[in-house]
Amino acid sequence: MSDKPSYKRYTVTSALPYANGPIHIGHLAGVYVPADIYVRFLRMNEENVVFIGGSDEHGVPITIRALQQGITPQDIVDKYHGIIKKSFADFGISFDIYARTSDPIHHETASEFFRKMYDAGQFIEKVSEQYFDEETGQFLADRYITGTCPHCGYDQAYGDQCEKCGTSLNATDLIEPKSVLSGNKPVLKATRHWFLPLDQYEPWLREWILEGHKDDWKINVYGQCKSWIDQGLQPRAVTRDLDWGVKVPVDGADGKVLYVWFDAPIGYISATRELTPEWERYWKDPETKLVHFIGKDNIVFHCIIFPAMLKAEGTYILPDNVPANEFLNLEGDKISTSRNWAVWLHEYLEAFPGKQDVLRYVLTSAAPETKDNDFTWKDFQTRNNSELVAILGNFVNRTIVLTHKYFEGKVPDAFTFTDSDKTMMAEMRQFPGKIAESIHGYRFREALSEMMNLARLGNKYLTENEPWKVISNDPVRVGTVLNLSLQICAQLSIVSEPFLPFSAAKIRKTLNLPAFKWKEATLLNWLQPGHVLDQPELLFEKIEDPVIQAQVQKLLDTKQANEAAQAMSPIQPAKDTIGFEDFSKMDIRTGTIIEAEKVARTDKLLKLKIDTGLDTRTVVSGIAGFFKPEEIIGKRVCILVNLAPRQLKGIESQGMILMAENPDGALFFVTPDDGAVNGADIK
Ligand code: 2FM
Ligand code: ZN
Repeated sequence: MSDKPSYKRYTVTSALPYANGPIHIGHLAGVYVPADIYVRFLRMNEENVVFIGGSDEHGVPITIRALQQGITPQDIVDKYHGIIKKSFADFGISFDIYARTSDPIHHETASEFFRKMYDAGQFIEKVSEQYFDEETGQFLADRYITGTCPHCGYDQAYGDQCEKCGTSLNATDLIEPKSVLSGNKPVLKATRHWFLPLDQYEPWLREWILEGHKDDWKINVYGQCKSWIDQGLQPRAVTRDLDWGVKVPVDGADGKVLYVWFDAPIGYISATRELTPEWERYWKDPETKLVHFIGKDNIVFHCIIFPAMLKAEGTYILPDNVPANEFLNLEGDKISTSRNWAVWLHEYLEAFPGKQDVLRYVLTSAAPETKDNDFTWKDFQTRNNSELVAILGNFVNRTIVLTHKYFEGKVPDAFTFTDSDKTMMAEMRQFPGKIAESIHGYRFREALSEMMNLARLGNKYLTENEPWKVISNDPVRVGTVLNLSLQICAQLSIVSEPFLPFSAAKIRKTLNLPAFKWKEATLLNWLQPGHVLDQPELLFEKIEDPVIQAQVQKLLDTKQANEAAQAMSPIQPAKDTIGFEDFSKMDIRTGTIIEAEKVARTDKLLKLKIDTGLDTRTVVSGIAGFFKPEEIIGKRVCILVNLAPRQLKGIESQGMILMAENPDGALFFVTPDDGAVNGADIK
């Protein structure tokens, strides 16, 4: 359960990203920024903590990418592991270790783990028929088989999913399957695999999660687990026929490796093992709190499958919490590696040197903690200019500059405190506790906003006390006001550290203060009178429109390139899923065209009179380029009758005719079968 004070140490893991592409803002907002805030906060609380990260270097997509590029999977992971590791370090994600699953220590750890379960009889062995490429002599993983989707007819569907209609498939569902390796038709051949009998863990999972973590796991996480468990868990294969991965450590398992989702979470353990000889304390002592930071697509693996593995192995602790986030979108559209619709971390760091904290701030403010959220460049600019610059930066800067101006850069004495000074100090004392409570509850947005409220309090205090006016007649009072304002700056340097570590360090440097522990955040007397300050350093600077426009333009270029590629492709991809309620809002009826004529002064529009069964109404339709008016009179059509009327060339159009459009733009009527009367409801 959460926050038992009895924990002696923390093991904090963050999802191991696949080493086949760089890191983008979606990864950061969902996983790494919250994990880093949490860990920095724990360290400031003098907790014993290990923060584990690393690359997930196995899995079929990596082997396919290597195949496409004519290089080895090791080449691929070497390249991306380097890029990812560096970008995380430059961004200030403070891992204690950033490991990799292709390292021998991981192979050894994952192998031992499997072997222990195997020896204890915890797998089911099953022989099943799978596709095999006779030319290359290999069994084919799902992604190595393409064919025609039985649902939508798309001819490039994969063995596990059709990316056009989104249906999840079995390789044997595909019509005319083809091997990606040779292009040949694969044959079915018997192969043996090991399965984790998840069904057997169902009662235990129910008790552990559905009863035990009802109140402390996030609703989105708990809900997903409940839905998986309620649907009934099935045995899951944990081995694959593949030659890239951790070899299955069993006689007679040549050419087989552990399924990537079996070995990857063990990667957290191997990384800890690589980090410290005391690794077992971090994984086996019940007084250790284990927390997994992940994105929502990883919930089932971290809340159900990995815990079942840990439980089965028998000597490990279980996660105390898995604060998974939802997804971050970019400018209203899903982040997508294949469509290059992303803000890549390494590119951001190049375009905005020294501005790590700006992105950390924006991603925490807009973190998809309870629902999907959107990143926009406009919001990035506004949060920088109106919050970081105008509130936090402005307060710290004003305070330091005034101290230099009136007191030669030395902390002035505070003499008599007014009632409002005392109220303000009482408020100051509340902040560390409030922020800590939010962080312990994994509510990082809330914690960040409290931190900014402290800067707001500082600004308000300065504005109300107007030292720049009071200085001429009461410099002693100004001393008190600036002393207290400087104490607020000092407090900010402490409580901003988990969120904005680069800026916190700058504030400390200007104030000439060391790094404090969290428990010292309520002291209120960090700066003694006479203490000498450093020169002010700009914390944040305004980001001007052209800088933002350049980023927006970059995305527009990407969109254009994608649309051009799309136009070359024969069939438009499927749109996003909608609920039945969305569909049922549309009132579509069958009807008949009873009159048709060209609209004057246009090449495209026809004015149609339609008998809809309900009435006779006018519809203006952009089909003149394809149909002569006289040819379509009497044509049966489908018409959306509850579309809001629109004026087209001065004519009110009262509905829309449904048309099918071919990839080359040719239009066709959607005509009901004979027998459907005018006004029949289409559903
Ligand atoms: O979804 C992913 O990117 C996976 N590579 C995450 C793995 S997390 C852990 F299990 F290693
Ligand atoms: Zn399909």
